[in-house]
Amino acid sequence: MSSERIPLAGVIGSPIAHSRSPKIHNHWLRTHGLKGHYIPMDVVADDLEQVLRNLPKAGFVGVNITIPHKEKVLEIADLVTDRATLIGAANTLIFRKDGKIHADNTDGYGFIKNLQSAGVDWDARRGPAAVLGAGGASRAVIASLLDAGVPEILLSNRTRVRADALAQEFGKRVRVFDWVQAGNMMDYAATVVNTTSLGMIGNAPLRVPLDGLQKGAVVTDIVYAPLETKLLETAREMGCHTVDGLGMLLHQAVPGFERWFGLRPEVDSATRAAALR
Ligand code: ATR
Repeated sequence: MSSERIPLAGVIGSPIAHSRSPKIHNHWLRTHGLKGHYIPMDVVADDLEQVLRNLPKAGFVGVNITIPHKEKVLEIADLVTDRATLIGAANTLIFRKDGKIHADNTDGYGFIKNLQSAGVDWDARRGPAAVLGAGGASRAVIASLLDAGVPEILLSNRTRVRADALAQEFGKRVRVFDWVQAGNMMDYAATVVNTTSLGMIGNAPLRVPLDGLQKGAVVTDIVYAPLETKLLETAREMGCHTVDGLGMLLHQAVPGFERWFGLRPEVDSATRAAALR
């Protein structure tokens, strides 16, 4: 009987071998003694829809979606949450019993939850947030920051037109700065977020002058390999409150796990250790 099948979930992307999601979800399954498996799947774009339609028949209750399919999957899903529509991408799918595919985006939730868990007090920090980068990750970060009550976003991107286009989507609440003048944002920013791939192992570091920042400012990076990027190291040495990007990855995984396996898992030091293994 299908109700007795072991529930399966997984992550679909291409390439997928380096994804840390299987380590996180399988750690939670093990520590909570739950039946279930979480499997990485390398699927190319042309096969995506067929694979997604067949997975429920194989016992899958849902999947995470990662690069390069996060946008395309919105065209395939039958139901899309408002936040996934706003961000223009989904990272979490639920396969409903009626056969419909439900798409959500938990990246913004994970981003905010990571800051909150690190002790960032939003009420006391109602100043602007400076966001570096204007890709898909930036859109999720901006949407969630505005949703969390940040009054204004200062945005800078190497390719200015991308920043202008993103700012237009969010209206007056986003002010664009030239990439060469990104350091000027620091005079106003209470929070700084790197959403570019700069700083990641193998990439050049993000070099933006932080001198204008106040000591209590929060600096965070969505890059988590290495855990402490050059940006975070500089900010820490200046006395800023730094938050690494691993927590965002862990927290974005929570809503999917809960929907698929029926238990809301904790993000704790053991989860961090499992993700890094
Ligand atoms: P994602 O969806 O992960 O955000 P993306 O859409 O490819 O990925 O965006 C990557 C971001 O990193 C962009 O803001 C990109 O800047 P451009 O729009 O100018 O390409 C930024 N980025 C990547 N490499 C960069 C570099 N060497 N210098 C500055 N910014 C860089």
